Amino acid sequence: MSLLHIPYSCGALANPKPKLSNSWRSRPERKKRHVIARASSPPVAEEGELDIPRWAGETPLSRLVGALISFKPFYSLMKLGARRVLISTAEKSNIPWRDMTREILESNVYEEMENVRNPSLVYPDYYLNPFHAYDEGNLSWLAAAEAEAATLSIAKRAIPDSSSTNEANEILRGNWLQAIEEHHLQHSGSNIYDILDIGCSVGVSTRYLANQYPSANITGLDLSPYFLAVAQYKDKQSPVRSNPIKWIHANGESTMLPSKSYDLVSLAYVLHECPARAIRGLLKEAFRLLRPGGTIALTDNSPKSKVLQGLSPVLFTLLKSTEPFLDEYYLLDLEETMRATGFVNVTSVLTDPRHRTVTDHLSDLWICISI
Ligand SMILES: C[S@@+](CC[C@H](N)C(=O)[O-])C[C@H]1O[C@@H](n2cnc3c(N)ncnc32)[C@H](O)[C@@H]1O
Repeated sequence: MSLLHIPYSCGALANPKPKLSNSWRSRPERKKRHVIARASSPPVAEEGELDIPRWAGETPLSRLVGALISFKPFYSLMKLGARRVLISTAEKSNIPWRDMTREILESNVYEEMENVRNPSLVYPDYYLNPFHAYDEGNLSWLAAAEAEAATLSIAKRAIPDSSSTNEANEILRGNWLQAIEEHHLQHSGSNIYDILDIGCSVGVSTRYLANQYPSANITGLDLSPYFLAVAQYKDKQSPVRSNPIKWIHANGESTMLPSKSYDLVSLAYVLHECPARAIRGLLKEAFRLLRPGGTIALTDNSPKSKVLQGLSPVLFTLLKSTEPFLDEYYLLDLEETMRATGFVNVTSVLTDPRHRTVTDHLSDLWICISI
């Protein structure tokens, strides 16, 4: 059993380079192991026995849940239930979901839409599905107004014994940033000048990246102009940054941005919302956008997470009713898909009990090929 000790505190980000054991660097073996441990208490993250949860993919249980969800009256019930569970669990964790939402909906956020929306963008089909219990998926003001509270809630669910939501968020984001930093230092070592955050939503991941790399140029890119409007509105409410964030409304599969122009491309919590064909498209585009030596960082649900494998039937049914492509995400061998895209040194690590961070870099070999 290998342990990874990550000393953390609420200020984990202020001190982003805690000591890591060598296990951080090695590819996880396919055997049960503890991955993350707190400095002063027992391990909190563990892989389960399976490669993917029984409720996902093509197992009989997964098919049964899929059939139930495809029955409209059941789906409507689940959708309502999912919203209720989401909001009440958030508020039990002291996340002021309704207040945060009201604050956005009653603000001038609507004025940002004009500046941020690309009227000629054609949405991929999958994006027009209902998501997260919103009929319009990510294309609505309600989804945009609730996104930050939902993000905080994800952190608290991932690290339930943290003393506060803020602490949970710092751990979840701190461990992710640390995995990126470690990979980049080990395999590239070059400075990070330009960062692209694909699927930036309302900008939470983008701001963490901007704070971690204050001298880099940061771009957040998303398909939802509603989310980007909130991201931009929030910027205007915050102190001016030395590295202002640029927000782009585009499809991450075909960004139209110049090739080899980023040192870090991040996709945080994006892939589980996408069908396999879109995941392949996103990886291919990230590969095109990276400079030689640049790092790609994907963070999302881990199919091997013991916690996710052990979800109760009620919870996994609610989850599947709000995430139309979850089965495709779990079935896809992400590391293998990355290799097929051209990445050569894929590293995957559980950065909290529910999520993995998968990193790789564009080999310098590509310099030789491209000159
Ligand atoms: C869960 S949110 C991401 C949250 C954010 N990255 C964070 O860590 O806080 C997933 C985002 O991916 C975006 N998305 C999905 N498919 C996309 C695509 N093809 N191109 C760009 N954004 C996409 C959605 O609009 C949504 O905002």
